[in-house]
Amino acid sequence: MDYPLLKDKRGIIFGALDEKSIAWQVALSAQKAGAKIVLTNAPVAIRMGKTKQLSEQLDTILIAADATKTEDLNDLLIKSIEYLDGKIDFILHAVGMSPNIRKKREYTDLDYKYFQQTIDVSALSFHKLLQTAWQLDALSPQASVVALSYIAAQKVIPGYGDMADAKTVLESIARNFGYYYGKKNGTRINTVSQSPTVTTAGSGIDGFQSFYDYAHQMSPLGNADAESCANFCVMLFSDYTKMITMQNLYHDGGFSKMGMNIDSLSNE
Ligand SMILES: NC(=O)c1ccc[n+]([C@@H]2O[C@H](COP(=O)([O-])OP(=O)(O)OC[C@H]3O[C@@H](n4cnc5c(N)ncnc54)[C@H](O)[C@@H]3O)[C@@H](O)[C@H]2O)c1
Repeated sequence: MDYPLLKDKRGIIFGALDEKSIAWQVALSAQKAGAKIVLTNAPVAIRMGKTKQLSEQLDTILIAADATKTEDLNDLLIKSIEYLDGKIDFILHAVGMSPNIRKKREYTDLDYKYFQQTIDVSALSFHKLLQTAWQLDALSPQASVVALSYIAAQKVIPGYGDMADAKTVLESIARNFGYYYGKKNGTRINTVSQSPTVTTAGSGIDGFQSFYDYAHQMSPLGNADAESCANFCVMLFSDYTKMITMQNLYHDGGFSKMGMNIDSLSNE
């Protein structure tokens, strides 16, 4: 798909840790669609992951920012506007982490300090980003901001732990901030609810392979992969979706609309 949908647009991509990251694919697709982008990730992720390699491949800059720190976000936005030579047209928030999941704490035995970190990293960081950009007036008119979510915000997926609560808050922030930004300058704020995808964050969840397989069999189109998610994000960043805002958009091969799929049982 080689359409210059993002020609002359300037964007910031959070969360490209390695080739498997959804954000990695979004960065590739956005640049292919003609955008000029800045990459960002947490300092520790930059040390451990491959974000720097991607910035070299795309010949762009990488700015370290912990998405839970407003001073880092402020610095990121100011430097990005300077480097891109104008206000920001689109942002991908692909940030998620749960210490409870990492430490295999069940939903019935959560550590509350970890729980706060989960919410801070995976949900409040989105509010902090939007509020910092609001205060700096960093987004251009009719900009587009997308955060990645998961259906555990609406339906119970045992094993997804406190990330389910974080995704619910994330989607609520998109809806509420979407109102204020829409009124301000036509900026759109949406979440994309993506199929299970094999990435570092995804595979860290207990039983991930089972619910990956289950969702794949239940969905008439199968699971959506990271590349198709990236193409969908590019469309949402483009001028073709100027009237879509405050939505949670399922990019899941039809999974969210399924009740029962007897075929999936007989295929086992
Ligand atoms: N993989 C899936 O099955 C799936 C499904 C639906 C939604 N998502 C969501 O997609 C997003 C991207 O995850 P992914 O699956 O590509 O995994 P990933 O592990 O490749 O990406 C997660 C990113 O979050 C970054 N991050 C963590 N803490 C941070 C902080 N404090 N500041 C800045 N960045 C921080 C990590 O460095 C990493 O780059 C997440 O929000 C995730 O919940 C994933």
